[in-house]
Amino acid sequence: MIVMGIESSCDETGVGIVEWDGATATLLADEVASSVDEHARYGGVVPEVASRAHLQAIVPTMRRAREAAGIDRPDAIAVTIGPGLAGALLVGVAAAKAYALAWDVPLFAVNHLGGHVAVDTLEHGPMPPAVALLVSGGHTHLLGVQDLSQPIVELGTTVDDAAGEAFDKVARLLDLGYPGGPALDAAARGGDPEAIAFPRGMTGPRDAPYDFSFSGLKTAVARYVEGRVRSGQSVSVPDVAASFQEAVADVLTAKAIRACRDRGVETLVLGGGATANSRIRSLAAERTEAAGIELRVPKPRLCTDNGVMIATLGAHVIGGGAQPSPLTVATDPGMSV
Ligand code: KG4
Ligand code: ZN
Repeated sequence: MIVMGIESSCDETGVGIVEWDGATATLLADEVASSVDEHARYGGVVPEVASRAHLQAIVPTMRRAREAAGIDRPDAIAVTIGPGLAGALLVGVAAAKAYALAWDVPLFAVNHLGGHVAVDTLEHGPMPPAVALLVSGGHTHLLGVQDLSQPIVELGTTVDDAAGEAFDKVARLLDLGYPGGPALDAAARGGDPEAIAFPRGMTGPRDAPYDFSFSGLKTAVARYVEGRVRSGQSVSVPDVAASFQEAVADVLTAKAIRACRDRGVETLVLGGGATANSRIRSLAAERTEAAGIELRVPKPRLCTDNGVMIATLGAHVIGGGAQPSPLTVATDPGMSV
């Protein structure tokens, strides 16, 4: 069975195609058109700009994906209905409905976050019960996965900023450009991660064990930089970047390992664009190894938003016997898992 996945929840228009053999999905096409450059001058994703870019990109991206896969039409279409930007989601969902109707193929509405988890199976095979840590500009979630054909449970999420958003904001504060995550990662390379003791949010004994908070950390960085400037002292950008990055990676990986232990699972999956971060990766590797937990990290191209992840989740959902969604299915911008 050939499944097409359509993704338009943020600033990437993604169309992916996989072949499903009843147990595993194989990648046939992965086409992504990004409007990230159009948002750069605003320092963040502008919803209206994203929606218009999706409108322009959706049909050509679908055509390219079908050409790359060498197919006329898929056997089923999966589409992200949430969470994401309302106007952006509408474009992908409208396209998915139109093509499902025109091609007379079933439509399956799926959750973006589940897609970030499911995509890992393309490289690493069927997924055992696992904990997933998703970190991107838009989301920070700890998820419990039993079986990809079944709903995923949310264990915790951020109570304020997403981790990637904190990277972007701190990068802006340090004048490193947008998107700031990769620039901050590079700047941190020459710095001392223990130079400044930045706070670890939500790690007190009374705090929710799997929730995150990054706004206090961001404020602490701002205060530190302002304090130095005000008193005429120099600011070491590498030390600030490395110390900030260490604080984020420390909390993310500590909570993820704890969730694995509490749930008795032996697999941790990472997903989302910010898992490209070198320290999040290396600390996750160190800590999972020490805890005897298998670490699965999709390659960076599959960690960022794309259509293949939606096709892959759709294939698992179809494989689990789900009924197709009605063509009246609505977007759900605030969808949880
Ligand atoms: O998944 P993604 O491409 O888009 C969504 O936000 O959904 O993730 C992009 C986010 C941005 O906030 C970007 O700054 C961050 O991931 N990011 C990084 C790195 N590469 C991308 N953050 C830290 N270190 C990186 N190397
Ligand atoms: Zn995403």
